[in-house]
This record gives sequence, C-alpha cells and structure tokens, in this order.
Amino acid sequence: MGERSGSTGALRTLSGKARLAGVLGWPVAHSLSPRLHGYWLQAYGIDGAYVPLPIRPEDFKDCVRALPRIGFAGVNVTVPHKEAALAAADHRDAWAERVGAANTLIFDVGGRIEATNTDAFGFLENLRAAISGWTATAGPAVVLGAGGAARAVVAALIEAGAPEVRLVNRTPARAKAVAAHIGGPTLVVSWEERSEALAGAALLVNTTVLGMTGKPALDLALESLPSTAVVNDIVYVPLETPLLKTAAKRGNRVVDGLGMLLHQARPGFAAWFGVEPRVTPELRAHVLETMNR
Ligand code: ATR
Repeated sequence: MGERSGSTGALRTLSGKARLAGVLGWPVAHSLSPRLHGYWLQAYGIDGAYVPLPIRPEDFKDCVRALPRIGFAGVNVTVPHKEAALAAADHRDAWAERVGAANTLIFDVGGRIEATNTDAFGFLENLRAAISGWTATAGPAVVLGAGGAARAVVAALIEAGAPEVRLVNRTPARAKAVAAHIGGPTLVVSWEERSEALAGAALLVNTTVLGMTGKPALDLALESLPSTAVVNDIVYVPLETPLLKTAAKRGNRVVDGLGMLLHQARPGFAAWFGVEPRVTPELRAHVLETMNR
C-alpha cells in the first residue's frame, strides 16, 4: 500500500486489536500531534489510534499510571506535564535525564513506564534533512533561550560534537543552570551581548518565544554572523519568522521550526505502532493545512 493510498482508499475502522497512543496536555486542544500521527496511521494503513487526552496537572500521576492498564502502548506528553512525566516513569533514558524532561513515554508489556525525550533527535534530524551535509562539528553554535526547548537543543549539539555552544538568555541564572546541567563546551553570554556573540558562529538557533505571533519581536543585529552560518528558528507560528526572513535576505541558509516537531514524533510512533514513519513533503503540507484552519 502506497503512503498516500490510505487517504483515498476504503473506509478504515479500528479492530479489537487496535494499538492505542495519544498526547497528554493541559490544555491539549492546540496540539498538532493527533493530526501528525493520524496522518501516518492512515498513510501506513495501521490498525491503531492516536488521541488527545486533556489531563489536569493534579490528575497527571493517576492518569499516566492507568494508561498501560487500559491498553495504551505509550503517549506523548506536552506542557505542563513534561517534568512530571519524567518523575512518574519507572525508567528514564539518557536523553530524558540530560534534558530533564520527558516528551515520550513507552509502556512495556508489564506496564512499566519508560521515559525518553525525542526533542534533541528531532532538532538534529531536522537540520540534517534540511541542509545537506550539515554537521554540528562545523563550528560554534549560538543558542538563544534557556527553557525546555533550549535544553534539548544544547544537549543535542554537545552530543553531536559542537566545539562550543554559546548560551544567551535574558535571565542569566537560567542559562547558567542549563550549562551546568548539560556540561560540555557551553559558554554563558549575557543578553546584552547577543549580537556580538554571533561572531564566527556556524549555527544560530532561536529557542525563545520572541518572533512568535502575539509575542514581542526578536531584536538581534545579524551583522557579526558569518554568511556561511545556518539559522534555525524553533518558532513555527509564523513559519517564516522575521529572524529567518532577515537571515535569508543576507544569504544565510535558514531552517524553520516545523520540521523539528515532525521529526521528534518519529521514535514514539515507531515504538508504539511498529513502523518507522517518514517525514515527507505531503506530511508537512497536511500539518500546515491544519495549522491554517
Ligand atoms: P520552552 O520551555 O518552550 O523553551 P520557556 O521555558 O517559557 O519555554 O522559555 C521561553 C524562553 O523565551 C526563555 O528563554 C525566556 O527567557 P527567560 O528565561 O529570561 O524568561 C525567553 N523569553 C521570553 N520572553 C522574552 C523577552 N521578552 N525577552 C527575552 N527573552 C524572552
């Protein structure tokens, strides 16, 4: 069966053996994950379902414990549950420990909860897919922000061999905490020096909310950034942020944030449904279409 045939083929309904997964969040209505996993389930003709699960913070622990008992293969976890998911797990892999949060839970046959974090994987895979020959070893990276997304990005870059990661955040204490937790060649730079920090960089990543629709603009002069540098914005609403627009205009290669979301979903889907899914232009178009609705 071709990847597109599911969307045009015969009516497909669940059997009694259907595999179950979903996403826990509060709220969860904004999540793109049901559309994303739903596309793959359809495309690969899988007998399974991926559902949104709106769970209040105070109910998280009870609910997550109940899921393996009611037949779920695993779940994604989003805001505000990522730290609670790590705490609730029976086992945490190195990525979950390094990032300090879990976004993917896999339940084994005995109902034990295995926690992982696939954001770092998604970040690296997105850059590798978007820029042929991209490698973290090419030179220093500048990361703006020190929230959960920044932790995953910094952990990914260090693991992938970046020679230096310059961490720039409005609140320096948060950047210092990230650098101390992840270790490696991380360097904390003050927010005031953010433009100077771009000198000699091979990669610039924005993990702050600045530039997102409804948030303040990112005020960053790009003059010091080499034209050979790659610029990646984690923000994907809008898809082409003002940072990416300005960077592209001056000749930098740019990568938008939607790809990281698509790639981070791959390991969970493979674990729950037994198929390694692909990120294709059709999947991207499908998710974009649902975003614009
Ligand atoms: P996430 O976990 O999704 O990465 P977060 O923890 O809310 O989100 O982090 C948001 C990031 O945007 C932080 O680095 C935050 O900086 P602070 O640590 O100083 O709060 C950054 N951010 C938000 N508003 C900002 C602003 N007006 N100027 C500079 N940075 C801002």
